[in-house]
Amino acid sequence: MKGIILIGFMGSGKTTVGKLLAEKTGMQHVDFDEQLVIELGMTIQEYFGLYGEKAFRDQETKLLKRYIDHEQIISTGGGIVLKPENRQLLKQLAPVVYLKTEPETFLSRLKEDQENVRPLIISKTAEEIQEIFEPRIPFYEESASLIIPTSDRTPESIVQEILEKI
Ligand code: S3P
Repeated sequence: MKGIILIGFMGSGKTTVGKLLAEKTGMQHVDFDEQLVIELGMTIQEYFGLYGEKAFRDQETKLLKRYIDHEQIISTGGGIVLKPENRQLLKQLAPVVYLKTEPETFLSRLKEDQENVRPLIISKTAEEIQEIFEPRIPFYEESASLIIPTSDRTPESIVQEILEKI
């Protein structure tokens, strides 16, 4: 089986689903955010603060290029689809699964997940976070080969559907 790439907004469950998919398929899992923290030697928040969002997107491009031929489960960062080159790369890659999540669900998950500091949404209101999400929807949709709704579902049922449809 080819690898699987997960895309979707912050709080859509890419990391959780990615880990479970790896367990079920026996493939390795890489989380791009975690990988970048290791490679950059700093947190994502620190990197954004020092070099800005554009530099971060370029780091994501480098990772995508490196992992293009790897048969493994990849959990991407929620903003990877913003850069046109990244969308082009995603289209050449193994199945790209968009974890489609309603704002109500990702907002409550993001509220609970205070440990993972996400620079783009620090001190943003729910409305402001939705304003970040909405223009991204067409980019997620055009980059995906499979769209899986995830709101009100367990990671197990999401993984099962992905494996059935891929
Ligand atoms: C971002 C999402 C984050 C991380 C960074 C930027 C975004 O990843 O890459 O904070 O622009 O949506 P998660 O989607 O894993 O939270």
